[in-house]
Amino acid sequence: MSAVEALLAVPESPSQSFEVRPLDAPFGAEILGLDLSRPLNAEDFASVHHAHLVHGLLVFRDQHITPEQHIAFSRRFGELQIHVLKQFLLAGHPEVFIISNIVENGQPIGLGDAGKFWHSDLSYKELPSLGSMLYAQELPEEGGDTLFASQQQAFETLPAELRQAIESKHAAHSYTARYADEVFTGIHRPTLTAAQLAEVKAVVHPVVRTHPETGRKGLFVNENFTTHIEGLAEDESRALLAELFAHSARPEFVYRHKWQPHDLLFWDNRALIHLATGCPSHLRRRMHRTTIQGDAPF
Ligand code: SIN
Repeated sequence: MSAVEALLAVPESPSQSFEVRPLDAPFGAEILGLDLSRPLNAEDFASVHHAHLVHGLLVFRDQHITPEQHIAFSRRFGELQIHVLKQFLLAGHPEVFIISNIVENGQPIGLGDAGKFWHSDLSYKELPSLGSMLYAQELPEEGGDTLFASQQQAFETLPAELRQAIESKHAAHSYTARYADEVFTGIHRPTLTAAQLAEVKAVVHPVVRTHPETGRKGLFVNENFTTHIEGLAEDESRALLAELFAHSARPEFVYRHKWQPHDLLFWDNRALIHLATGCPSHLRRRMHRTTIQGDAPF
């Protein structure tokens, strides 16, 4: 490096000393003592990346970061995806999707019922999400938990015959599959415009996907977005999906996250599905989510 280059070089931030503590759950780990408001150096980033692959879900405690820092940290893992519901993107930061039941001046500030059904974020895209980072802004005194289920454990515990039968199958995913479902009656769900509908055309993915970084196989269908299995009669497809959905959320594969103020969760959408339990409607809940683009499932 020349003298000028040396002067211009941004010094690497010093390593932070932090702990990766596995949760008392089928997967997941807490990250304690890491400050995400400071840029991570290459070594710390590699440790976090490794922990994410090993544990599937990371709970970063006690974070005090701006939307810019949330976005910058998310970008370290890949390109960010902009949610189709543009009305719920954070002003000036379209990479941040607001999930909230708060209504201001008669208008919902975010999607209030996100995650009412088990799903993997953006499984309805050609390139579904690698992972999501959900950052608590305002938490209710009661409820508002998020459940996660390991789809790798779900796949591995299916009867061998069923595992074999589904390995070569493909399924269709659609954002609109349950968009107007009756459970949303009375809840504000914006009507999708023609442009929004064009953005979320149905796609087809393998029913079993191989994790591109670990090689582990997992189920990749979910009750929110998967509409049918290709090549099967409608009743057969419905019955098989019902069986897979029931198995995929068995309690032994599930971790229930009870949010603490300033938690930031980073989960792997290639390995887990998740569900929001909701909270009593008179309590306020506001979360900020970034969604990192992943690979085409194979
Ligand atoms: C989501 O589906 O990303 C929302 C989860 C939550 O609000 O707990």
